Order: sequence, then C-alpha cells, then structure tokens
Amino acid sequence: MSDLFHDLHNLVEECRERLDQVSSFEDLEDVRVAYLGRKGALAAVLARLPELSPEMRPEAGKAANTAKNTLTTLHAKRIEELKRSQSNAFLSSFDPAMPGRAPHSGSLHPITLVMNDICTAFAGLGFDIVIGPEIETDYYNFEALNFPPEHPARDMQDTLYIGTDTLLRTHTSPLQVRTMLSKTPPVAAIAPGKVYRRDSDLTHTPMFHQIEGFLVDKNVSMADLRGVLTAFVHRVFGTDTMVRFRPSFFPFTEPSAEVDISCTMCAGKGVTAGSTCRVCKGTGWLEILGCGMIDPNVFTSAEYDPEVWTGFAFGMGLERIAMLKYGIGDLRMLFENDTRFLRQFA
Ligand code: DAH
Repeated sequence: MSDLFHDLHNLVEECRERLDQVSSFEDLEDVRVAYLGRKGALAAVLARLPELSPEMRPEAGKAANTAKNTLTTLHAKRIEELKRSQSNAFLSSFDPAMPGRAPHSGSLHPITLVMNDICTAFAGLGFDIVIGPEIETDYYNFEALNFPPEHPARDMQDTLYIGTDTLLRTHTSPLQVRTMLSKTPPVAAIAPGKVYRRDSDLTHTPMFHQIEGFLVDKNVSMADLRGVLTAFVHRVFGTDTMVRFRPSFFPFTEPSAEVDISCTMCAGKGVTAGSTCRVCKGTGWLEILGCGMIDPNVFTSAEYDPEVWTGFAFGMGLERIAMLKYGIGDLRMLFENDTRFLRQFA
C-alpha cells in the first residue's frame, strides 16, 4: 500500500521533470498522454486501487486525485509557457520598427495624360469637349466629309467594316459634322477618342487615339488656325518649340496643311552629339498633325451655309504626341501594360 503512495509521488516528480524539458507542443502532448492519458501512468496506478484494503481506498483515491490535479495544473502551466516563448521567438525574429511595404498606387496611362493635357489646353481656349460613337456609319466617317463613294482618298485609311454601311471609325473627324448638326454656330469643339484601322506593324496598331478639333465662325482665317495650334504646341511641348505649316491634302479641308514642330530630341538642329538625330532623321522637324480650312462641302453636310460660315479643323494622333513628349521609342510599349513602364508616369 505504501508502494502506491510512493509510486504516485514518483510519478508526479517524474512527470514534472519531463514537462520542464519539453520544447514543443508535440513533446508536451506525448508527456500528457504518457501520464494523464487513458492508458497512462496515472491510470495504471488507479487500476491498482482494488488491491488495497477498503479502509485504505478513500485515502489512496484522494492522493490519486491530488496527483492528477497537480499534473493537470503543471501541464496547463507548461502550455502557457510554451505559447509565450514561441510568440517571443516570433517577435524577435523580425524588426517590428521596420517600415511596411508600401502598396503600389496606380497611375494614369501616358495616352490619358496627353489626352487630358490637350483637352485642358483647348478647354482653356474656349473649346467644348465632345464625343461620338466608335461604330460609325459610312456617311459620317466618309461621305459627309467629302469623300465620295469609290473616291481614292478613302484608300488613305484602311477601314474595318462591320456591315455595308457601318464601320469602326477610322478617324475622329466624323465629330465635325455630328457636332455641327447639333449646334448653331459659332462652334468650337474638340473630340478625343479611339479610332481603328486595318493596320498592324511596328509603327501601327489597329486601335489608336486621336483628337479632332474644329472652330466655325464668321471670317475665320488660316491665321486663326495657326495661332490656336501654336498656343497648343507651346503648351504641350514648351514655348521654345517652333511650328511650321506644310501644304497637304485632305478631302474635308481646303486648303489643307500638315503641321511640323521642331524636333523634341535635337531642338530642330538635326544633329545630336555630333551625329544625325534619329528621331527626326536629321530634318530637324517632326510631323504632328493635319489641318486646314473646313471645306464648303462639309458645311453643306452640316446644314451650315458655306457662304456665311468659315472655319478650321485639325486632327492628331495621341500615340505619336505621347511618344514625342515622353521620349518613348517603341509604340508597342503603350499597349503592353508593363507596370515597370507605366509606373514611370506616376
Ligand atoms: N482625319 C485625319 C486623319 O485621320 C486627320 C485630319 C487631318 C483631321 C486634317 C482634320 C484635318 O480635321 O483638318 O488622318
């Protein structure tokens, strides 16, 4: 009988020692099972109670209970200690004062930046901003703009047709007639948006962006056109940039011109660091837009009297403006959505 008390005492001490040594929750669980489990050391001692005389049993039962409570308390205490030491180890494994990783913030696409900039410049000159459909009728895209059916000038724009009379607009110029039909002159508006052509190579994408602009009033002259476009160029490319008009042809303007600006790379000199400038190929000039005085036939389409109203129009590609303004060498970068590129505009 004294054996049983003795064994209980030894069992508690042994278990206490083993608990002191555990360093993981797995070891702790092993020790619990070994001493407190259904087939553990404590259960084995309890199984011997019937061996005792009936008078001894209550005392032995009490001692066994005390041993069990002691072991349960020691076990619970050890759980807390282990938890604490593991969280201390976790906390000391990194520097809590280290700054967090900043989330990447998005930024506007260079085309959007240029579009916003140009719209703001023209809004400041009193132009309205108008938009129109990307799926356009043959009438507004061509005919109303003085491209008769079968006219070779249509070949200037490789068109994506949807039906016989509907197509993806090849330019933003349809907004001239659309806007004039909905407003009484004088009118000044710009029309930014996507345009589409059946064209895809290193320097052309099937979708690109344009801004169309036009102004209608009495006695508008080419000098007004030049003044407005020069103000725009100075705003977008800086006041040192020179502007030159070259005669050209568009069905919807007469006379027509193309506008060049002095090269943004070599400042119009044609050479950089002693060799021929690769951006302007040594000419010192870069073409940026087409323009002209609105053709009387366009006024007729818009139901404006060509004897009374005069005006100018211009149209430019935004990809080209963005590439020149930001020094982007490859058109494809504008469409790849590589965040290493886009982040540079944040
Ligand atoms: N629509 C022409 C194009 O896409 C650009 C253009 C040229 C627009 C002359 C105009 C203009 O308004 O007067 O190539």
